[in-house]
Amino acid sequence: MKNLTIVGAQWGDEGKGKIVDHLCGKFDVVLRFQGGHNAGHTIVIKDKKFILSILPSGLIRNKLCVIGSSVVIDPFHFLNEINLLKKKRIIVTKENLRISNNASILLPFHSLIDQIRENKLSKKKIGTTGRGIGPCYEDKIARRGLKIYDLEDINHLKNRLKNLINFHNIFLKSVSKKIISFNEILKLLVSIRKKILPFSEDVSELLNSKKFSNKKFLFEGAQGLMLDVDHGTFPFVTSSNTIPASAAISLGVKPSKIGNILGIVKAYTTRVGEGPFPTELRSGQGLELAKKGNEFGSVTGRPRRCGWFDAVQCKKAINIAGIDSLALTKIDVLDGFKKIKICHKYKLGKKTINHMPNSVKTLNRIKPDYLTLDGWCQNTSSIKNKNLLPKKTKQFIKTLEKLLNVPISIISNGPERNDIINLKKII
Ligand code: GDP
Ligand code: IMO
Ligand code: MG
Repeated sequence: MKNLTIVGAQWGDEGKGKIVDHLCGKFDVVLRFQGGHNAGHTIVIKDKKFILSILPSGLIRNKLCVIGSSVVIDPFHFLNEINLLKKKRIIVTKENLRISNNASILLPFHSLIDQIRENKLSKKKIGTTGRGIGPCYEDKIARRGLKIYDLEDINHLKNRLKNLINFHNIFLKSVSKKIISFNEILKLLVSIRKKILPFSEDVSELLNSKKFSNKKFLFEGAQGLMLDVDHGTFPFVTSSNTIPASAAISLGVKPSKIGNILGIVKAYTTRVGEGPFPTELRSGQGLELAKKGNEFGSVTGRPRRCGWFDAVQCKKAINIAGIDSLALTKIDVLDGFKKIKICHKYKLGKKTINHMPNSVKTLNRIKPDYLTLDGWCQNTSSIKNKNLLPKKTKQFIKTLEKLLNVPISIISNGPERNDIINLKKII
């Protein structure tokens, strides 16, 4: 098998963590390439539940894991997450985790700024996780943010930090009583730098070294393709590129290393936060999906908005990411529905359209056009063999494959690690 990149092909929380955990045994290295601790990737093993935000899911199987330079790292959260794993007997050391010394440092005032903007300033909220992701990426692009390697030299760190804090205090003074104390943040950073630095290295150099020339890589995406800052439902997106193409940028490897691309989709659609969602069902079946699917955000606990599967949206995701095949998760959630809908076209006024427009203004006018299928009304959650799937479940899968023109290679029928059915070889 070639290298593999796994991405969520909707608005996040598709079950990426579970599928990475399922597949990573076949790979040598698991690599996170974007986002930060806004992600929440769940892995359930019997009665144990792990929710990973900044750490790659491959750690649960003790794979060598690497965090790339496009990731924004809150060093305090990072160390906490390592401690939480330790309590569950997963030991993370520099032997199984390397972080790019080029990765950006997310600081406590980033989340403060994020929350002030969301709660006090903006009339139209994005519904961020409030974890400071946007402000930290802004600092990176503006070339004033801190990088992990800035922790190496305290004098240099002081200069960089002073410049950064001076900039933000201009804004904070005008909107809040709270301004950032340089001494406080410096003290915090000095207290943890020796715990962070052993993990840090030039990961591009490492991954391009002879030792890694035959190693198999699995790139783990965070967020979903519709939250990509360039291709998603802007401005209701996250601040990073969630598409696989960004994995090569982040890790500093040849683009062909991205390998095959596996998109993860739920058998329906969910979204946390604000923004357009053409197939959203605000009551009735939407609430039923939320209840059966236990649809609450893994990071913020917010209820997820729910609706039917949107094949038009998914086709866009397939295009922007170059998806070769799909894993379809949470089919068990559809077990009790007598009728199941799939959006196959959009209506825009009197026109029918077959693609998802970029403009949010246009997207807000879209009405979904549905195919209606008979539900299977049978429990699928204990099925282990694809041949034992109900006929109508097979029909649902076939209909999606036909609409999307990509194979569905994996089915997930429950949260537990073993609730999975392999249908086809991943291509
Ligand atoms: P990620 O961010 O893409 O890794 O997904 P999350 O972990 O945020 O959300 C997926 C949720 O669905 C988690 O609570 C998983 O335990 C759960 N889950 C994953 N696959 C399945 C499935 O096939 N069926 C059910 N019922 N739950 C699932
Ligand atoms: P995983 O990896 C679902 C959403 C937020 C908000 C928007 C911007 O678990 O799939 P941000 O804090 O990133 O600035 O918020 O993006 N969002 C997610 N939604 N799953 C996630 O991650 C998300 N990460 C961010 O809800 O709408
Ligand atoms: Mg999640």
